[in-house]
Amino acid sequence: MATRKIIGESTAVLSLLKLIGKVAGSKTNLLVIGESGTGKELVARMIHETGPLKDKPFIPVNCGAIPETLIESEMFGHKRGSFTGAISEKMGLFEAAHGGTLFLDEVGELPLSMQVKLLRAIQERSFRKVGGNDDIRVDVRIIAATNRDLEAAVAKGTFREDLYYRLNVILIRTPPLREREGDIRLLAEQFLKRCATRFKRCPSRFDEEALAALESHEWPGNIRELENLVERAVTLSTGDSITLDQLPQGVQDAALRARGLPTHPARRSTDVAATAAAAQAQGALVLPAADFSKGPLPLDEILADAERSYLLAALAHAGGVKKKAAELLGITFRSIRYRLSKLGMEKDDASEE
Ligand SMILES: Nc1ncnc2c1ncn2[C@@H]1O[C@H](COP(=O)(O)OP(=O)(O)OP(=O)(O)O)[C@@H](O)[C@H]1O
Ligand SMILES: [Mg+2]
Repeated sequence: MATRKIIGESTAVLSLLKLIGKVAGSKTNLLVIGESGTGKELVARMIHETGPLKDKPFIPVNCGAIPETLIESEMFGHKRGSFTGAISEKMGLFEAAHGGTLFLDEVGELPLSMQVKLLRAIQERSFRKVGGNDDIRVDVRIIAATNRDLEAAVAKGTFREDLYYRLNVILIRTPPLREREGDIRLLAEQFLKRCATRFKRCPSRFDEEALAALESHEWPGNIRELENLVERAVTLSTGDSITLDQLPQGVQDAALRARGLPTHPARRSTDVAATAAAAQAQGALVLPAADFSKGPLPLDEILADAERSYLLAALAHAGGVKKKAAELLGITFRSIRYRLSKLGMEKDDASEE
């Protein structure tokens, strides 16, 4: 899949693009830091694809997702019989990236023991497989990324200082969405256009009130949050434009606060709606713990949120086609329409196949 383009016209993005242009031509190691969802991986891919290594492999590794006991053999490979379960010789990711780029995502999650080995491999441009005696030479460009404060980790002793300086030859910071003035609108519109190619029915624009709300939101999940929000709004929309009431409660509240108006107290009595929306952005459904020590839990609200999450997921999967979504949920078309309208997720349009 071709890498998506970096969208944005804000000063922050323009200087990011300029820096990418400068570093793409070289083979120096880079460290990309930025909050979650700000496009760190996108930047790494763009650097690889616009530079001299573009025809060579780009190997992404999520350092936080590999179990600690397997990291070394994943990175460097292993010899047959080097440990229980090593039934055949295996090539590691370092070797797979030879000649190209190794993208070490969430590098701050690497255990200290692995940090030593990584440093040695980078310095000596060679490594040994687990259970092996030969030095294997490699030529890789390392792009590391993290959303952690690595300097603080160095100060605390959980990240090696020498490795930090090896990786941080050039530092690239991906700006949070709230610092990209003007880009929210641009990105939202681009994501909407993209939905139009994927969904059967897609509104063509946001109305002004909805856009103003998007612009006043803080975006803790950054561009990924915006991407998910657009998709969610498309599944909820009925007309040709996306309206404020089709945006998550948290965004609606931000808009009200920005205008000095009170937020909706009934929906905020628990954080159920906000929790569900945030979890849904990650693709999960999170219910509040059945812990009554902090006060009562309104069952109807909780169940309504669960129902809303499943309805949204089914609609998204079905490309917005309610009949198909109903099938996915094992309910009738009539029932899905009833549920959607009961939850305020559908205006009374009778038109749908
Ligand atoms: N400037 C941009 N223009 C268009 N799309 C973008 C931009 N930045 C990020 N995206 C999109 O936002 C999503 C998140 O980007 P990406 O995965 O690169 O972020 P990340 O910083 O690696 O996040 P995390 O820390 O959660 O891993 C992706 O779908 C990506 O395509
Ligand atoms: Mg990432």
